[in-house]
Amino acid sequence: MKVNRICCIGAGYVGGPTMAVIALKCPHIEVTVVDTNSNRINSWNGPLEDLPVYEPGLKEVVGESRGKNLFFSNDINLAIERADMIFMAVNTPTKKEGEGAGMAADLKYIEACAKTIAKVAKSDKIVVEKSTLPVRTAEKIKDILGKYGHDEVQFEILSNPEFLAEGTAIQDLFKSDRVLIGGDETDSGQKAVQALVDIYAKWIPIEKILTTNVWSSELAKLASNAMLAQRISSINSLSALCEKTGANIDELSKAIGMDHRIGPKFLKASVGFGGSCFQKDILNMVYLCKYYGLEEVAEYWHQVIKINDYQKNRFAQKIIDDLGGDLRGKKIAILGWAFKANTNDSRESPAIYVTKKLVDSGANVKIFDPLVSLSIIMRDIEDFGININACSICNNIEECINAVDLVAILTETLAYKDLGKDLSIYDGRGINKEAKYTIGK
Ligand code: UDX
Ligand code: ADP
Repeated sequence: MKVNRICCIGAGYVGGPTMAVIALKCPHIEVTVVDTNSNRINSWNGPLEDLPVYEPGLKEVVGESRGKNLFFSNDINLAIERADMIFMAVNTPTKKEGEGAGMAADLKYIEACAKTIAKVAKSDKIVVEKSTLPVRTAEKIKDILGKYGHDEVQFEILSNPEFLAEGTAIQDLFKSDRVLIGGDETDSGQKAVQALVDIYAKWIPIEKILTTNVWSSELAKLASNAMLAQRISSINSLSALCEKTGANIDELSKAIGMDHRIGPKFLKASVGFGGSCFQKDILNMVYLCKYYGLEEVAEYWHQVIKINDYQKNRFAQKIIDDLGGDLRGKKIAILGWAFKANTNDSRESPAIYVTKKLVDSGANVKIFDPLVSLSIIMRDIEDFGININACSICNNIEECINAVDLVAILTETLAYKDLGKDLSIYDGRGINKEAKYTIGK
C-alpha cells in the first residue's frame, strides 16, 4: 500500500518535529499537521524564528519543506478526509481526577481524536499511535473507531512510539537508534506495518526498523523511559551517599560507566529529572501494574519517582539549611526554568519545584532562562501556586544574579558555567566549577 498523504493530529513537541522530518525525507508525500489550538498552527506558519517549539535545527528543516509538501492547518476534518495515514500526536498527561487520578494517563485527548477520525473518515485509513500510551490503548481506539465510524470504512491501528529527546529531536529523528512499529498480526495489519516501514526506510537503515505486535510496541516505550529514569534515580540516590562518605559522584559515575555492561550514559547526577515523559510514563506503568495485581512490581518502579522527589527536595532543603532555616529577606537567583538545556519546555521542570519550596520558605526569587518565554514562566508560577509577588523574571543573566544572596543553577545551559567566584552558587546540574554546593560532592 502506497501512502500519498499523511495527516498528523497534534502540532506539539512530538508532532511538529517528527512530521517536519518525514516531509523532508519523503518529498513525494504531502504531510499536513493539524491542531485544535489555532494559535499554535499560526505560529508554525509564521516566522521561522518564532516556531512554537524550540529545537536546534528545526527551523532549517521546516524552512526546507513548508509550503511544498509540509502544511500546518486548522482544518482538521479536511486533512483527515484526504489522508491515507493519520498520526495521533496529542498529549496524554497524568489524570487529574477520577479513577487513577495522579497515576494513570488521561486519554481524553486521544479519545476525542479517535472520535473525530471515526466521524470524518469516508475511506480506509491507517491510524498510527505516536503519543505515548498505556499498553492496550489500541483496543480502546479500535472500539471508538468501530462504534462511531462509517460501516464500509476499514481502520488499521499501528503503534509507532516516538523516542526523540527534546533538545536533540532533529538529530534523534535523523539518526534513530531504532524505529519501532507495532501492528496486528493479520494480513491487513502487516500491510499497514509495511506501509509505515517504507516511509522510514527512506532514511533509516532497514535493520534499525523493528516490527512487533502492538502491545510490545506500546509497552516498550513506557519501559524504555522507565529504564532511563531508573538510571538517573540510581545515580542520584548514590549522590546522597557520596556527600556523607567523601566519595565524589562524578568519579563514581565514571568508574561505574566504564564497565561496558553498564555504559556511561544517563549516569549524570542532578537535581532530578524533569520533562513531559519520565514521571508520567512511570506513573502510568505503576498504575498498569497495580491494575494487574502486581503490587511488588508497581512499588519497585514507583521508587524511581520517590527518589526523584527526594532529590529535588534535598537540593532546596540544602539551601534552606545553609541559610539558617529562614529565607525571609533573602534573594535567590534561579538560573534555568526549562527541564534541561536547549529546550523551551518547562513541563515537570525541577526548577518549578525548587522555586516553590524556596518561596514557601520566605525567599524572593529572580528567574532567568534564555529560551523560556515570560508567559510560560508566569503560567507555571500560577499553576503551581507559587506566590507571584515573591518572583521577578529577568531578561539576562547579569540582571538575574545582581544583588542576590545565592544563585541556584537548574539547567545545564552553558552560559551559567562561568559566573565568577564571588557568588554563592548552588549547582543542581554539576556544570559550575566555582559552585559552593554541587550535588554529590
Ligand atoms: C526522554 C527520553 O530520553 C526520550 O527517549 C523519550 O522519547 C522522551 O523522554 P526527554 O524527556 O526529552 O526525553 O529528555 P532526556 O534527555 O531524556 O532528559 C530527561 C531528564 O533527565 C532531564 O531533566 C535531564 O536533565 C535529566 N537527566 C538526563 C539527568 O538528570 N541525568 C542524566 O544523566 C541524563
Ligand atoms: P507532546 O510533547 O506529546 O507533543 P504537546 O502538548 O506539545 O505534547 O502537543 C500536543 C498537541 O495536541 C497540543 O498542541 C494540543 O493542542 C493538541 N491536541 C490535543 N487534543 C487534540 C485534538 N483532539 N485534536 C487536535 N489537536 C489536539
